[in-house]
Amino acid sequence: MILEALNYAATWPLTSAANRPHIRYSVNLWSRAGRCAAAWREHEEMSRRAMLAAMAGLQQKRTAVVLGSGLLRDVPILELTLQFDTVVLVDLVHLASVRTWLAIKGLRNVRLIERDLSGLSDIAEGRDPDPLGFLRQVPYLDLVISANLLSQIGRGAKRRIDEMPQGAMPDDALPRLMQAHLDGLANLPAKACLVTDIAFSVVDRTGHVHETVDLMHDVTPPQASSSWQWPVAPLGEESRDYQIIHQVIAA
Ligand SMILES: C[S@@+](CC[C@H](N)C(=O)[O-])C[C@H]1O[C@@H](n2cnc3c(N)ncnc32)[C@H](O)[C@@H]1O
Repeated sequence: MILEALNYAATWPLTSAANRPHIRYSVNLWSRAGRCAAAWREHEEMSRRAMLAAMAGLQQKRTAVVLGSGLLRDVPILELTLQFDTVVLVDLVHLASVRTWLAIKGLRNVRLIERDLSGLSDIAEGRDPDPLGFLRQVPYLDLVISANLLSQIGRGAKRRIDEMPQGAMPDDALPRLMQAHLDGLANLPAKACLVTDIAFSVVDRTGHVHETVDLMHDVTPPQASSSWQWPVAPLGEESRDYQIIHQVIAA
């Protein structure tokens, strides 16, 4: 608890007022990732492997952008900074612990951007969402990685819509946001690598699946080059009797 409080307090002045409400989520993620490190190891390794495979085929390695860089646990950040001239990390929040780690490692070609990647404000203002449009302004862009972000866009947007007066947003806002992210990646003038969880299941101790929930809001994900399971809440994390297992794809 003390480390979490310190990380929270140190991140607060480094984060814009609009994004400070998200610091708590990032600190909770940091805390859970530490507790569940063993259970998450394979997922993190599979994610990094998919991103390394995307880098491998590139002729030029000038600028790479990582969307949803978060704690940099599932991102091959050392390889990216070694091979690319510039690595841009984009997230709602860059925790003080992550900033300190980058400074200790002396990774001088890393740039941090604090940005909402959902596109929800576009829909609120009556426009078609173009959440990745800003990437068109990034010079020498060769690679964009969406790093276990897409399902969180859906979850965060749903939470915000639920807090609004009924009817404030169109009924199809969530699938439009999910599709806008996929379209944004597909239409880039650079290679794109998507790693995302697309569904989760509640599984009991015997392996019996009680419920499966779609995280894509009925939007069809692209054809996967690989897929695996991520025990986001292994037994004992949220319940002694049930675990929550996410289905992840790389594309
Ligand atoms: C599951 S975590 C990804 C983990 C991260 N790739 C890592 O290696 O630790 C999801 C990340 O997406 C970020 N995120 C969620 N919604 C976002 C949004 N609308 N815009 C930008 N980032 C967002 C969260 O802050 C979090 O860091």
